[in-house]
Amino acid sequence: MTERKKRVGILISGRGSNMESLIAATRRSDYPAEIACVISNRPEARGLSTAAAQGIATQAIDHKRFQTREAFESELDAALRAHGVEIVACAGFMRMMTSSFVDQWRDRMLNIHPSLLPAYKGLHTHARALADGVKLAGCTVHVVRPELDQGPIIAQAAVPVLDGDSEETLGARVLQAEHSLYPHALSLFASGDAIVSGERVLLKKEPVNQTIPLYWPPLSQL
Ligand code: GAR
Repeated sequence: MTERKKRVGILISGRGSNMESLIAATRRSDYPAEIACVISNRPEARGLSTAAAQGIATQAIDHKRFQTREAFESELDAALRAHGVEIVACAGFMRMMTSSFVDQWRDRMLNIHPSLLPAYKGLHTHARALADGVKLAGCTVHVVRPELDQGPIIAQAAVPVLDGDSEETLGARVLQAEHSLYPHALSLFASGDAIVSGERVLLKKEPVNQTIPLYWPPLSQL
């Protein structure tokens, strides 16, 4: 790889399992990005100690210390810039952002959401999918826009919903897909192989001969 690696700042609020999958991917010498820092708005977030144990720079910026959302975001923005961050990757960052903060990072901030967007924006995605009886659920990595869980979609993964699923079992199946999808999407984005064009993301090298639909239940069982 001849191109310089893009510096990524990961934003978390809790467990940080997606963060871990991004850290693991960036350890590969041919991966087009490296982790510059992990920042949490919750000082107690488990992901902070996981990242620190792996030698990654971490910082807690407790949103409760600030009177306004703008004051919190101005410190967050300063921290990201101090770490030389070029791409922000939200990974379970459960904090609404103002449109001015999002605009400052326009087309340079990604998010992962546990649904096949634009379906099931917001919280409790798996419970709502189960209640609706959908047969496919999944996850989405998208470029962040000011509207909640909206923005140009980089990549999605679909998983089947099984008859016996609970919110937990479906959530675990989706989370496993998230752990492969986010490193894949970040790689496409950081390398320039996925490019934002208005409200869509276009792939420089669109895969051919891989347009096999995912059926659930499988066709063979019909
Ligand atoms: C993930 O499932 C992620 O998709 C979701 O929070 C979880 C964080 O888990 N994000 C959202 O719901 C954002 N709207 P993690 O901390 O183990 O990565």
